[in-house]
Parts: sequence; C-alpha cells; structure tokens
Amino acid sequence: MPMQPWFPDAKLGIFLHYGIYAVKGVPESWAMYQGQLSREDYLAQLNGFTAANYDPKAWAELFADAGARYAVLTARHHDGFALWDTAFGDLNVRQTPAGRDLLQPYADALRERDLKVGFYYSHSDWTHPLYASVRNQGEATWVNDNRFVGPPEGQPDDPAAWEKYLDYRDGQVGELMDRYHPDLLWFDGEWERSEAQWRLKPLAERILAANPQTILNARMLSYGDYATPEQGVPILPPDGPWELCLTVNDSWGFQGHDDNHKTVRQLVRYFVETIGAGGNLLLDVGPREDGTITAPQAERLRGLGAWIRRHSEAVYATVAGLPAGHHYGPSTLSADRETLYLMCFDTPRETIGLRGVRNQIRKISVLGSGEELSHHADHGLHDVPGVKWIKAPTTEDAYATVIAVELDGELDLYRGTGRV
Ligand code: GLC
Repeated sequence: MPMQPWFPDAKLGIFLHYGIYAVKGVPESWAMYQGQLSREDYLAQLNGFTAANYDPKAWAELFADAGARYAVLTARHHDGFALWDTAFGDLNVRQTPAGRDLLQPYADALRERDLKVGFYYSHSDWTHPLYASVRNQGEATWVNDNRFVGPPEGQPDDPAAWEKYLDYRDGQVGELMDRYHPDLLWFDGEWERSEAQWRLKPLAERILAANPQTILNARMLSYGDYATPEQGVPILPPDGPWELCLTVNDSWGFQGHDDNHKTVRQLVRYFVETIGAGGNLLLDVGPREDGTITAPQAERLRGLGAWIRRHSEAVYATVAGLPAGHHYGPSTLSADRETLYLMCFDTPRETIGLRGVRNQIRKISVLGSGEELSHHADHGLHDVPGVKWIKAPTTEDAYATVIAVELDGELDLYRGTGRV
C-alpha cells in the first residue's frame, strides 16, 4: 500500500500516554520493570484509576487548537493494562473504578473534529502470564533473563505458551480494528523478540484485511510504513516518511514532579525543524489519572497552535524544504514546489542571504503581516547562481518569522561545488 496522503500532509499529531501509571505518577510500565515499584505496588494503581473527568471532547478541542490532525492514544502499554473492556486478557478498565471502555468516546470525539484516530499498542506485555515463556531468538546469547521478559536460566522455552500469548495479542489488535476502525496503529515493544517470533506477517494481514488503509509505524518491522525517531530531530532525516515523537516535558506519562517543560519557542523550533526535513511531529502529553491534561502542557499545545495558525500556508501539505547550506534555518516548500517558506528564528540583520537558487523571484512577503520584501541578486558565475539578498523584514513573529519566496516556476537548485 502506498502511504496514505493524509499522513505526510498532517505535520502534527498528539501522543497520549494514559494509563494506571498516572495514579502514582511513575514511569509508564518501566517503574515496575526497573524495580522502582514492586509488581504488586505497581498493579495496586488499578484501584486508583478513575477516569473521573475523562472528557475526550475537550481533548479533541485542545488538539484541534494545537493544529494537530491526528492523535495516538496508548490503548495498551508494556504493563498490559488495556484502556478498553477487552475480551482478551484480564488486565483492563473493568478492574478499575473507571469501569468502562475509554476508546470509543476518544475515537468519536476525534472524528467529530476531523482528526485521524491512532492507537499505540505494545507487542510486549510484562504482566501477561504467558509472555515470559520464550527467549529472544534475535539475541546472539541470552543476556536478558529479566523475569518479566523470558524464562529463568535453566528453564526451557515453552513455544506452545508463546503461541497462546500471540493469540491474545492478535485478539486485542483485532478488537481495536473491528470496534474502533483506527487510521493508524503505533506499535512498540518489538525489541524483546525477533520478527519471526512476533508472527508479524499474519498480524499485518489481519490489520490490513480489516482496513487496507491503516498506517503502521516502523515498530511493525518489515510491515511498517514510516520511521519513528524518538526525542531528537534527526541530523540526517530518514528516507521516506517519518515522525518524530517528543515529550512536552521529560516524561511520556503523567509525572507530577517533572516540570521540565519545553517552552513554546522551543516547541515551534522542534516542529519547524521536523517538517522542514519532511517529517511529522508527534507531541506527547501525559494526562492525570482522572483524564485531565495539565495546564502547562495544554498551554504549550495552544501556543504551538497559535503559531501554526498564523503560518498554516507554510505548514500543512508542504514538503521538505532546502537542504542545509542554502538558508540558515529550516524551510518548507509548497506542494507545487513554486513557493519556498524560509523560517527565521532570530532577527535578520540587513539582509537574508538565499544561496544556490537558480529561479527568478516573483514576490517575497512575510507570512502573517503581509509585508513585502525587496531583494537584489549577485551576478554569480556560469551556472553558479549569485546570492539572493532579501531585505530584512520590519515585522517579526515572536517565535519564528516565515518569509514566503514565490519563484518563477518549480524550485531549481544548484547543488555543485563551483569551478574548482
Ligand atoms: C520509549 C519509552 C516508552 C514509550 C515510547 C514512546 O520507548 O520507553 O515507554 O512508550 O518511548 O515512543
């Protein structure tokens, strides 16, 4: 299946890590794995998970305000806790005071606002009784004898139990497909088994039989549609479609002590660097156990959205802009490749120098204010185009000023070294 066009056009998605880990505000699943809490204390959080103020309509409104076009919610993380009343496995919303399916209202609320629906789902499940039944065939020697992951030393693999575990996983994924018809499935946890052990081929076939347009992330290994760099804009962008997942503070889920929130200016920067290199940003928030999103996170989302609204022409449905070296900052390019959007994080002084562009320029203006900018060009030599010196604007955006450069046709770039 070729990539669904909505995905590269969307640019911004919101990632939600919502689960029982929000009750004590500990790292999602990892608090148990790494021993911060015993398994018993970790699972005791089931009793405190109320979803008392769960209002996915308010989420959807906030995400639309942020300028997002899709969202991805943790249907089930590595701790095995399912946010819906699944018929497979014992650990789900029915065992909590929340006591009801949380996924259908989420899917409905997003769709009402024309947002695409995504679910995160972990292949691994550290509390399922059959999960730790086999060793990872992808590991040269068995190093990880963690009790959550595989059988203890000396105990043989139990392939029949493993097959049953996979039936459970497939049953849950089948439910997600048949009940909620997601546009995107965001898998994780794949590193603990080999591709063959994960039985990914029939899983991918099952998903695509239910909806051939479902987008799958790279953690479906060979069946993935796009790359998923995490927590840092790649210096060299991956080939093909990709999406950077990034936390607003330093935590995926709610952790009350974590106040290291990125500023709106930093988020605008992450966002523009990502889309300028052809990617999407999947910006993560961690709701409290009652379902509310904290004020600092909501403010960051709204701040980013306000910048996007002022510059939507340079954002949605654009493609990656200039490679490094032509402009000191990221840029995007209109889908018809005839308008360049140059991003300026700092105040330009005197001029902005645009290098290696062969086209004539029709018009230059500042997005938002409409201020028109003049330019003059150096002569250049043979096929080496001269620098185009764009007059510095007098109107500026508080976070990133966008200069729209309308070309006389499709972008024609000089990529050479000169006469050496
Ligand atoms: C990391 C975290 C995991 C989180 C994921 C999101 O792998 O360990 O908890 O869900 O990032 O990409």
